[in-house]
Amino acid sequence: MTVQIDHALEEIRRFRPSPEFAAQAVADAGLYEAAAADRLGFWADQARSLLTWQKPFTQTLDWSNPPFARWFADGELNVAVNCLDRHVDAGNGDRVAIHWEGEPGDSRSITYAELTQEVKRAANTLTELGIGRGDRVAIYLPMIPEAVVAMLAVARIGAIHSVVFGGFSADSLASRIDDAEASLVITADGGWRKGKVFPLKPVVDEALAKAEGGSVRNVLVVRRGENDVEWTEGRDLWWHDTVAKASPEHEAQAFDAENPLFILYTSGTTGKPKGILHTSGGYLTQTAFTHRNVFDLHPETDVYWCTADVGWITGHSYVVYGPLANGATQVLYEGTPDTPHPGRWWEIVEKYQVSILYTAPTAIRSFMKLGRQIPHDFNLRSLRLLGSVGEPINPEAWIWYRHVIGGGSIPVVDTWWQTETGAIMISALPGVTDLKPGSAQVPIPGITVDILSDDGEKVEGEGGGLLVITDPWPSMLRGIWGDPERFKETYWEKFGDKYFAGDGARRDEDGDIWLLGRVDDVMNVSGHRLSTAEIESSLVAHPWTAEAAVVGASDETTGQAVVAFVILKASQAERVTDVAEAADELRRHVASQIGAIARPRQVFIVNELPKTRSGKIMRRLLRDLAEGRQVGDTTTLADTSVMTAITEQVR
Ligand code: WT7
Repeated sequence: MTVQIDHALEEIRRFRPSPEFAAQAVADAGLYEAAAADRLGFWADQARSLLTWQKPFTQTLDWSNPPFARWFADGELNVAVNCLDRHVDAGNGDRVAIHWEGEPGDSRSITYAELTQEVKRAANTLTELGIGRGDRVAIYLPMIPEAVVAMLAVARIGAIHSVVFGGFSADSLASRIDDAEASLVITADGGWRKGKVFPLKPVVDEALAKAEGGSVRNVLVVRRGENDVEWTEGRDLWWHDTVAKASPEHEAQAFDAENPLFILYTSGTTGKPKGILHTSGGYLTQTAFTHRNVFDLHPETDVYWCTADVGWITGHSYVVYGPLANGATQVLYEGTPDTPHPGRWWEIVEKYQVSILYTAPTAIRSFMKLGRQIPHDFNLRSLRLLGSVGEPINPEAWIWYRHVIGGGSIPVVDTWWQTETGAIMISALPGVTDLKPGSAQVPIPGITVDILSDDGEKVEGEGGGLLVITDPWPSMLRGIWGDPERFKETYWEKFGDKYFAGDGARRDEDGDIWLLGRVDDVMNVSGHRLSTAEIESSLVAHPWTAEAAVVGASDETTGQAVVAFVILKASQAERVTDVAEAADELRRHVASQIGAIARPRQVFIVNELPKTRSGKIMRRLLRDLAEGRQVGDTTTLADTSVMTAITEQVR
């Protein structure tokens, strides 16, 4: 079916749920009513019905010490038992938990019984290595089943994982290891990406040489890439020599609902990443609830696939905890969408008969560029629900996703949330809510949001404002690791007891919410958060750089792209003969310091930066330039001729 997308945009503003979908939907309108009538009672009901508690809780929310919330605090549970053992005990041990697909085409299907056994072995190994409740374990792995096993084994013994995305550099890994004082690193020799093995263990070695804290006692290494690795006797251990040989018997202990589950680092407005802390009972309740209701999960029949890496919050909540708590069958794919051919994802959908697909707008836009013929060559008729996350999905991409991937009539849910929120906060409920392309729509049942002006007044009607979450929610962050002051300052100082999300938003006449992007110095590149300050400090750390300013410029594929303006030191500027080469060197430098995702799309070498009289860089003007627009109002610049000079240098 070919639809004139432009026309579709004008004509179809809303899609009602089809009666067939609504008739079988997991969610119903009663959820909104129940949550509106008794919000805390609603969450208590969800926690009791979705999870298994070793000790039932009696108190739902303790908000006596804001902004430090405690949910279900006197209850006890084991997160891993909720994700594994109880499904086996319920007779579903033979259900496939993970259909794993390696990039080179090797694959493994792992049942709930097998996954449970593997996690028990790993839990025993961790205990033997001296890891116990509250200890931090860094995980630096490719998308292989062992990543899921490692996370759940850490959770099972009440320790805290800190997963670091495999694309991050040795420096980034070292600073995360130091900040959390991790005593163990779980990694692999290497993993497959874009047709090649990328080394991981060597990066860990380099990171440990750099890590100043000396907290790491052991490195546990999964064999995957078969690349050569160096070995530190006494410190390094192979997974296949330890976990594979450990006992598959393991009695799990119950932990407090507020026992820390993980730390996940994300970029903020300053140079130093924040270790976002999540705990157990509330987090698992809301990830399970949203995974079930937003994705309309029927665990007996659905095959679910979330394409996110476990190194991001989406991978934590919607590859590991939500789906496994719900007993779902899912696909886990190691590699990139275009290896060995551009139809790789669609081949996987066809092979495993994927019915629910959750991915990011940046991926959808790159598929749009390649054209509809590629997905059309595969049978995608198993799909019955599509999800999007990471940045606003433009209506064209929404319509393309629904038509070309979804066959034209299945629900597309756009889900707004953050590393800090832990789980989905704003989204349609399929089968219940009418769908509106481009809008993330409404808070899920039990979540309350508002849009406020800078001085805290409610913004009514079409005008935009700042998105706040007005009441505590079960999966909310409990703090920033080691920095309670920064936690208060970043999220709670602006509006008192309301959570400031850092996003602009507006509500339309139907009450639907449209996200307008970050209002702080945080960029969103391919759905990943990057801080302008962090990249600026990396650039300034290069011996050639005198000063640097970074902006997020809109980009057709990645949403935003990193664009840097750099002033070279006078001594260096004299020596540079090839500006393009100098720019390339700086781009490489950022990639090696932070990771490839942070590599600037462009670095412009300039003589000056636009500054106000008080010395603040006016990034707004640089963004105009980077986006090819007429440069805006320059009257507040200390020297109004600066922008003309920069424009000449750049164009
Ligand atoms: C920021 C959070 C949540 C997992 C992925 C990113 C932006 C996220 C949407 C959406 C518009 C979105 C926001 C948010 N964002 N989803 N559906 N519509 N914007 O997690 O790295 O913590 O980034 O991503 O700006 O604040 P994250």
